[in-house]
Amino acid sequence: MSAIRYELIKTCKQSGARLGRIHTPHGVIPTPIFMPVGTQATVKSMTPEELKEIDAKIILSNTYHLYMRPGHKLVEKAGGLHKFMNWDRAILTDSGGFQVFSLGPLRKITEEGVEFRSHLDGSKHFISPEKAIEIENSLGADIIMAFDECAPYPASRDYVKNSLERTTRWAKRCKDAHKYPDRQALFGIVQGGMYRDLREQSAKEIMELDFPGYAVGGLSVGEPKPLMYEVLEYTTPLLPKDKPRYLMGVGSPDALIEGVIRGIDMFDCVLPTRIARNGTAMTSHGKVVVRNAKYAEDFLPLDPECSCYTCRNYSRAYIRHLIKANEILGARLITYHNLYFLLKLMENVREAIMEDRLLDFRREFFSKYGYEL
Ligand code: GUN
Ligand code: ZN
Repeated sequence: MSAIRYELIKTCKQSGARLGRIHTPHGVIPTPIFMPVGTQATVKSMTPEELKEIDAKIILSNTYHLYMRPGHKLVEKAGGLHKFMNWDRAILTDSGGFQVFSLGPLRKITEEGVEFRSHLDGSKHFISPEKAIEIENSLGADIIMAFDECAPYPASRDYVKNSLERTTRWAKRCKDAHKYPDRQALFGIVQGGMYRDLREQSAKEIMELDFPGYAVGGLSVGEPKPLMYEVLEYTTPLLPKDKPRYLMGVGSPDALIEGVIRGIDMFDCVLPTRIARNGTAMTSHGKVVVRNAKYAEDFLPLDPECSCYTCRNYSRAYIRHLIKANEILGARLITYHNLYFLLKLMENVREAIMEDRLLDFRREFFSKYGYEL
């Protein structure tokens, strides 16, 4: 039996977007959903109580970082990641493939796995598909990701083909190594870069392994957004309708809406939390770079249309002061607002799907936010 169950509630008549629910061992997740990123077993600066206040239903954490520090065995001793970080809702862990590949010259890829040097102390390590699953089994997230290879952009057809075929072989090894399929759902990851036939090959091979959910990987790696939308347009229809589809590493408001319209159910991205820490808020009228001098005497909230804790209580001028003075509270207040903003956006998206008007919603949102359609 699978650890999760996907329930397709309806398809938007205007856009084809999906409204659904994922039933997990730690609660029900309405989809489409955005997952805040908690790389180091913490969504930077947010307590679990605050995450619940903004109604986050699932967060993401990273195998690679927790393996390096504090170590998966320690997290296991603590009773698993949920208990360790005091989060009793759902968690998804990424496999470490993507993080390890991002280390650049610090790593060497072979058929067996990836050898790399620690970003912390330069010590040598090795992660194989079996090792990644061992770590993810110890962490105990509700959804775990296969260990894949994410090809860079741009990359030659030959490179991408070899890399996706290795990703398939690794996916099989991950499935065989997975000890708790009835407690943790292992998702497969489709690769294939920007090549249509390679996406088709990867989707076919990964689907033959029969996972309870599928991710589209290898996007948002520096390619132009229209190209990412084009790849999604032909990739998501290849995936089974009765399983969730997860677009990895995407979280700008425009790409979330475009992804949902192309059939995606789950997203994650460090964007809202990362830009918060350098003083940038996402608002219904576009980005507000609160660091800018023009906000020095602006006593409006970050987003006058937002009803989050930050916007109900603090001004741009005050938050600008905090950020400029390097005060922790500045980063905290913007992080809270940015996550609230994206979670609210996804709630509005779900409502629009329910009412068969997601294309109208996109037009209205984009014209206000200042995007081109
Ligand atoms: N995060 C963003 N893109 C990817 C990807 O292609 N693979 C994995 N494992 N994580 C990602
Ligand atoms: Zn707000």
